[in-house]
Amino acid sequence: MLRRLHSEQPDSFAFTPANQAWAEAQITKYPEGRQASAVIPLLWRAQEQEGWVTKPAIEAIADMLGMAYIRVLEVASFYFMFQLQPTGSVAHVQICGTTSCMICGAEDLIAVCQDKIAPKPFTLSADGKFTWEEVECLGACTNAPMAQIGKDYYEDLTAEGFAKLLDDLAAGQLVAPGPQNGRYAAEPKSGLTSLTEFDSGKTQYNASAQLAMDVKDGIKRIQGDEVPLLTPWIGKDGTVAGRAAEGQPPKAPEAPLPAARQAEAVKTAPSKKSDAAEPSSPEGAAAKATEESEPELLKEARGGLADDLKMLKGVGPKLEAKLNELGFYHFDQIADWTEEEIAWVDSRLQFRGRIARDGWVEQAKRLQVGDETEFAKRAKEKHIYDDDE
Ligand code: FES
Repeated sequence: MLRRLHSEQPDSFAFTPANQAWAEAQITKYPEGRQASAVIPLLWRAQEQEGWVTKPAIEAIADMLGMAYIRVLEVASFYFMFQLQPTGSVAHVQICGTTSCMICGAEDLIAVCQDKIAPKPFTLSADGKFTWEEVECLGACTNAPMAQIGKDYYEDLTAEGFAKLLDDLAAGQLVAPGPQNGRYAAEPKSGLTSLTEFDSGKTQYNASAQLAMDVKDGIKRIQGDEVPLLTPWIGKDGTVAGRAAEGQPPKAPEAPLPAARQAEAVKTAPSKKSDAAEPSSPEGAAAKATEESEPELLKEARGGLADDLKMLKGVGPKLEAKLNELGFYHFDQIADWTEEEIAWVDSRLQFRGRIARDGWVEQAKRLQVGDETEFAKRAKEKHIYDDDE
């Protein structure tokens, strides 16, 4: 299937404060230079927030992770779990169309989707509440035919029952997930033939269905502030185990804070060492670590001839434009940055730590004297500019 960005895109994307705090904490899981490993969780959280993966979200995540936009687009367009078009405000319905489900009536369920939602998959219903698609086996073949709606499985479906289920969801009613024909889980339809002693004392619904009923929602998307933001990989001393010696910046709160409170802490993190309180977030800790000092800025490139800053590994067209906007046009400017000046520039880029991580100063020192770095050589030969590589 051809998976492309949708023709209509929003102007911008930003994580909510809670999701931003969560995302930044996820990134600290990975060693220096390997932040790109967080791309799938961040894309997933963006999808949970917006309902689908937008182009601005791809670009924002690429900027956060220091990746080229095309690399993040490759991930988003490869995995079918990422929706590249708007999805229903109530739910995106995934009908399993593989063998067991097909034999047991998946085509009837698809007909219901075509009738009630839209004739074609990935198309919003007239009221914008639903979209649908056919997917491959979801691993609930014993309860065929079935559909995944939101986080839950709705199993043992009939066309009539499924049509009513969609109506109920559209009306905002709570529908119990799991088997819809009275079965408890995946036992024989005629009842248990073994392990019958476990038949008593059970909850009304099977485990995940019961949880959905307990929280009174089977289709709600993650908002980011449901559970405390836990960062167990960050030790009590504020460093990631095994990486303290490398000067890894992340710091952890003494006790995990709820995501929303962490986000607040990030927002109010002091930027000067002198007035800094005890850091309560990775970003706050980074801000405390180094005083900022403004480097020498230029209004324009000397002689109207700027250096090609994209020859620095980690700087792509967008970052180059940002650096120019700040007043940096030449390798020698970057080569002269002190630690305090790096902190100043860092705090004006979207994601801190990238300057040290990619060694911009060391690269600039070589490039200013005409010494080509391995990355610059490749970038020139292949015309590949990378925000980080
Ligand atoms: S065939 Fe539908 S869940 Fe396996």
